[in-house]
Amino acid sequence: MNGISLHDLSSGQKASFADVSRGLGSPQKELPCKLFYDEYGSQLFEQITTLDEYYPTRAELRIMRAASAEMASRLGPECVLLEYGSGSSLKTRILLDQLERPAAYVPIDISRELLQQSADELARAYRGLRVFPVWADYTRGLDLPRELPAGKRRVAYYPGSTIGNFVPDEARRFLTGIARVCGRDGGLLIGVDLKKDPLMLHRAYNDALGITARFNLNILTRLNRELGANFAVDQFRHYAFYNPVFARVEMHLVSLSEQVVRVNDVDFHFDRGESIWTEASYKYSPTEFATLAASAGWHVQQVWTDDRGLFSVQFLTVAG
Ligand SMILES: C[S@@+](CC[C@H](N)C(=O)[O-])C[C@H]1O[C@@H](n2cnc3c(N)ncnc32)[C@H](O)[C@@H]1O
Repeated sequence: MNGISLHDLSSGQKASFADVSRGLGSPQKELPCKLFYDEYGSQLFEQITTLDEYYPTRAELRIMRAASAEMASRLGPECVLLEYGSGSSLKTRILLDQLERPAAYVPIDISRELLQQSADELARAYRGLRVFPVWADYTRGLDLPRELPAGKRRVAYYPGSTIGNFVPDEARRFLTGIARVCGRDGGLLIGVDLKKDPLMLHRAYNDALGITARFNLNILTRLNRELGANFAVDQFRHYAFYNPVFARVEMHLVSLSEQVVRVNDVDFHFDRGESIWTEASYKYSPTEFATLAASAGWHVQQVWTDDRGLFSVQFLTVAG
């Protein structure tokens, strides 16, 4: 069975050598975290969300279950729901169960297989809902399907605290872009992880089963496969820590030896102990996030948190 057809912007495809060589050629080597999400990486991420140490998914699901009716009334009837980084669309179902006659659902993701599977499952579970999956790298601009119903309120949904993967300046640009896509009447429902005990953060990104380590190292396996690189994966160590100066968890891959890695016929030298920075995950206080959102043209209307104050889901409208 083919399933519903993906709107394919081609930007979600293979790792780009231009991105990789720019990152590995920088004084602080880095790789874009979107490269985590090939088919295997997406499966590993789904496993991470079920780990004891990984509190964000459980906390966000609790908030969604407790407040989805209130959220749905904020979004209003007949909205077009655009989900950025939709993954398994698990949290979306809680929202869809409450939304009044949604006009369409547009899941957007870079991970093709997971997007196809989730969109098919969702269309089967919500008969009558128009689903328009978009396979794209959403950092490269979005060209939405032309068949989207016109004249309906557009609301973006951006759960998972994926906004934390952008440095604040990029986050501002990205949120500004979403405001443009949603238009003057637009809304944004967004999951934002909150500042907390650094030990809890440390544990969340250093799980005992080593799934996060596998997720991080998989980026090298992907480059070996897609760009003909020759990373010796066992010569790199997953290393994640909370940096309170920047209020972010940093994930790195640290070279265990002096080595030269060839990618697409270009050599990159690694000192022993040198790192590739693969992901940032910024944590915000509600006030800090409101300031960031305001600088991107959004006004926070309501903030829901779990009873331990670990995570927040926030509803924003485009500032008038
Ligand atoms: C942290 S996961 C969150 C998944 C899900 N929304 C949740 O809340 O559990 C990030 C999701 O965004 C997708 N993603 C990451 N970077 C992306 C990009 N540049 N463009 C489109 N999707 C992206 C990943 O494939 C993944 O599904």
